[in-house]
Amino acid sequence: MNVLITGGSGFIGSNLVRLALAERPGWRVVNLDRLTYAGNAENLADLEGHPRYRFVRGDIANGELVAEIVRSERIDAVMHLAAESHVDRSILSPAIFIETNVRGTQVLLEAARELRVSRFLQVSTDEVYGSLGPTGLFTEETPLAPSSPYSASKAGSDLLALAYAHTFGMHVVVTRCSNNYGPYQFPEKLIPLMIANGLEDKPLPVYGDGQNVRDWIHVEDHCRGLLAALEQGKPGQVYNFGASSERRNIEIVKLVLKLVGKPESLIQYVKDRPGHDRRYAIDASRACRELSWAPRHRFEEALAGTVQWYREHRGWWERIRTGEYLGYYEKQYGGRS
Ligand code: NAD
Ligand code: DAU
Repeated sequence: MNVLITGGSGFIGSNLVRLALAERPGWRVVNLDRLTYAGNAENLADLEGHPRYRFVRGDIANGELVAEIVRSERIDAVMHLAAESHVDRSILSPAIFIETNVRGTQVLLEAARELRVSRFLQVSTDEVYGSLGPTGLFTEETPLAPSSPYSASKAGSDLLALAYAHTFGMHVVVTRCSNNYGPYQFPEKLIPLMIANGLEDKPLPVYGDGQNVRDWIHVEDHCRGLLAALEQGKPGQVYNFGASSERRNIEIVKLVLKLVGKPESLIQYVKDRPGHDRRYAIDASRACRELSWAPRHRFEEALAGTVQWYREHRGWWERIRTGEYLGYYEKQYGGRS
């Protein structure tokens, strides 16, 4: 089977490409990635010369390029991960989120329709459901109520994907996952940012009161879910993924400090994120039941493993934390305390 993975040079994409090549010996994988600030060719450097892997640098919103790849590579299935993915950046500069997440998704869906791709997996997020109060879980029936330009653009792309399934009878499956952590996550997201700042004795910026809750899942568990959803998901169906690991942000930050052996005095409370969602929590029972999927990683152990990975790959994140990153960091955190 020939599979097009978009965004394969990002955090989840690179973990997925590696897992797919290792566990699906019958697959040939084509990775289409524009290599934005978040994409990093280094993430998959070990696959250079792999006989079942090809990298194409390009934009998912370029219809001619996408059609050319689908045609020439005889693509059977698309796993669509490419996106602008960071909420804070969507607050600073929303336009590119619409271009990539909404228009780019439509371009891919159109190519898949015209060239009769047999399966299309739209990889989405629990953020499309908005925010929860102190109790309750997001199910697939929870109404969409996105809060940020990022989550609104993802909700838009989900609805387009489902509309293509409904109108054109395409085999489209949508997945919505909670917060991922693990190797190769760009150090602008909470966990890798706190690890890197801690290791460098820099302040750890906690938004608001630090009591916001996220539901954490190891990236490998998510990737296994994506393979299952592509292979066993019903057309037009949505599947939530999560690992029942709700934690307050401040708990995570304190845990990271303990794991890197640094004092809590590095914690710095800063101005809250505008429109900050209070709590996410996922009911993943449909995926467990219908896809025979279950998370394998336990949070505390897997977080320790993640910290260890960042310790051992210091060059990887140190190289990232130069250039564009410095400008973004100043815009996001400068004068925020
Ligand atoms: P990421 O930012 O690490 O990676 C995104 C990748 O997409 C990068 O390699 C980037 O270069 C590429 N890309 C961006 N714009 C592109 C374009 N126009 N054309 C081609 N490539 C482009 O993101 P991630 O955290 O790995 O997330 C991947 C997907 O999973 C996203 O769709 C995101 O919404 C979804 N998701 C993420 C999480 C999470 O916790 N990180 C949870 C649920 C769902
Ligand atoms: O829920 C899934 C989503 O998780 C994905 O769709 C997104 O792509 C991914 O970025 C993530 O979104 P969040 O906004 O939840 O993740 P982030 O790591 O940016 O923030 C996690 C929590 O930590 C959130 O409550 C904000 C807080 N935070 C974040 C940063 C970067 C801080 O307190 N300080 C920070 O510096």
